Amino acid sequence: MAYSLWNDQIVEEGSIAVSPEDRGYQFGDGIYEVIKVYNGNMFTAQEHIDRFYASAEKIRLVIPYTKDVLHKLLHELIEKNNLETGHVYFQITRGTTSRNHIFPDASVPAVLTGNVKTGERSYENFEKGVKATLVEDIRWLRCDIKSLNLLGAIMAKQEASEKGCYEAILHRGDIVTECSSANVYGIKDGKLYTHPANNFILNGITRQVILKCAEEINLPVIEEPMTKADLLTMSEIIVSSVSSEVTPVIDVDGNKIGAGVPGEWTRKLQQAFEAKLPLSINAE
Ligand code: PDD
Repeated sequence: MAYSLWNDQIVEEGSIAVSPEDRGYQFGDGIYEVIKVYNGNMFTAQEHIDRFYASAEKIRLVIPYTKDVLHKLLHELIEKNNLETGHVYFQITRGTTSRNHIFPDASVPAVLTGNVKTGERSYENFEKGVKATLVEDIRWLRCDIKSLNLLGAIMAKQEASEKGCYEAILHRGDIVTECSSANVYGIKDGKLYTHPANNFILNGITRQVILKCAEEINLPVIEEPMTKADLLTMSEIIVSSVSSEVTPVIDVDGNKIGAGVPGEWTRKLQQAFEAKLPLSINAE
């Protein structure tokens, strides 16, 4: 039996019915989070919960539960589903009401839903690296908000998939921003380059962990925009997200990156990252 989150209750998956007039369904009017679970333990749960509340505030959506209540509900959802390795997904919408672009009044409750998904870590990608393609970033100008509106991301990821690539590396004009569902970094001459955390990218929680890892291994971080040409001259490229972790990119549109195999700094970052994961049972 699978269980889902339905507002502040954990319920049987099949018992939920989202209304066709849910504003998330009609407008994408809501926000979401994804937290990685290792051996039953959420990784960086507090950071994800904080970002969930920050995204909600940016779209003026009031979450009717405290962060502690949400944390406990996510715990319960993972336990009820006996989830070992995978992720927990949750979203909140601005509620259900007769369709109108204007916000409903404050009496309309937000709708919180969530579920878990089992999935092994992508060891083969971590080990061998992946291919990526450059795609124009057609998303809106508030990519710092983890919005349910993902059409720009979906179109880019689909294009990448049809080209046999793992990710679409997005660019606005000449400037590389991030990926369709991950952050992107280049490494060259002993420095790590990545786009600054502003409205053009989502400040990934994994990104924040990676920047700490870089500090630990004495890899200076330059948070400055890169051009497409800069990117292609990097000796190593990585992408990161809760599911991609530290994934090396060895080819961009047929251009070999570095020696065409994951580089030394990437390996060091992967090791530093691995050391932070809550891999033992009941580590959280
Ligand atoms: N995506 N940038 C974008 C556009 C993303 O969608 C994501 C995550 C990230 C990385 O964020 P984090 O390290 O917090 O996962 C960056 C999630 C996993 C998704 O949409 O499924």
